[in-house]
Amino acid sequence: MTDNSLPIGVFDSGVGGLTVAREILRNLPNEKIIYFGDTARVPYGNKSADTIIRYSKQIARFLLSKEVKAITIACNTASALALSAVREELDIPVIGVVKPGATAATRETRNNHIGVIGTKGTVNSGLYEKLICDLNPGAEVFSTACPLFVNLVEEGMIDDPITVQMIHRYLDDMIDKNDIDTLILGCTHYPLLLSVLARELGAHRAGDGSASGISLVNPAYETAIALKDMLKANDLLSDRTEPVAPEEHSYYVSDDAATFRRFAEDVLGIRADNVELKVLE
Ligand code: DGL
Repeated sequence: MTDNSLPIGVFDSGVGGLTVAREILRNLPNEKIIYFGDTARVPYGNKSADTIIRYSKQIARFLLSKEVKAITIACNTASALALSAVREELDIPVIGVVKPGATAATRETRNNHIGVIGTKGTVNSGLYEKLICDLNPGAEVFSTACPLFVNLVEEGMIDDPITVQMIHRYLDDMIDKNDIDTLILGCTHYPLLLSVLARELGAHRAGDGSASGISLVNPAYETAIALKDMLKANDLLSDRTEPVAPEEHSYYVSDDAATFRRFAEDVLGIRADNVELKVLE
């Protein structure tokens, strides 16, 4: 029987997956996490499925060697392209971010016109579309890649005129032409643009009770909630009654620990005391 006091492994192509880690820390405060950010090989968004599968399997094996009880694939691209391959390799529960995001969007939409934004890899995989249509065959899904958002966020250009311009360039036509009422932020970095997107698109956070305007679905949040259900179903929820302290979590990166630590603290407010370098081959 797996020990439910073991940590949860979380991985991403780099710093972006910290948006998922932050939701896990907020919503499952008694769980310890081990995070791996593949900062040496980021971005994943424009790489082939074979490469993403190879990288994801390596990371999953590394996390398993650290004795995790479950794995969360925080990266949308890796969730879209490598979730089944990782699941086949491991005999612990593995969750990705795509299904929770797709499920929330089908719950949220009123007119069945759902938009998806993400990396080229995520959009080209068609997985959000497939899962949404499996859940609601009447839904119409419109997807577009917004690759520059990743760099803008990493440059700290969150509420910046260039970012605002790119939001309108990427999204105005897509939303208007297709009468989209629900938009999935299908990339780890996009939840950091949520307030700017809401202001610029006349949108709101999914589930906040607003009845009009576009609903923005944050798969990072939805995944933390789905992870809780998955742990419960597998009898793996931690029995701890007191929250885990920041220094009990561990972070590994394949390059440049200092930049990672700074991004975690400055942009996400996550105190990442233990960041170690781990090169995977
Ligand atoms: N983490 C990636 C994702 O969510 C975005 C960054 C990248 O391209 O690696 O798809």
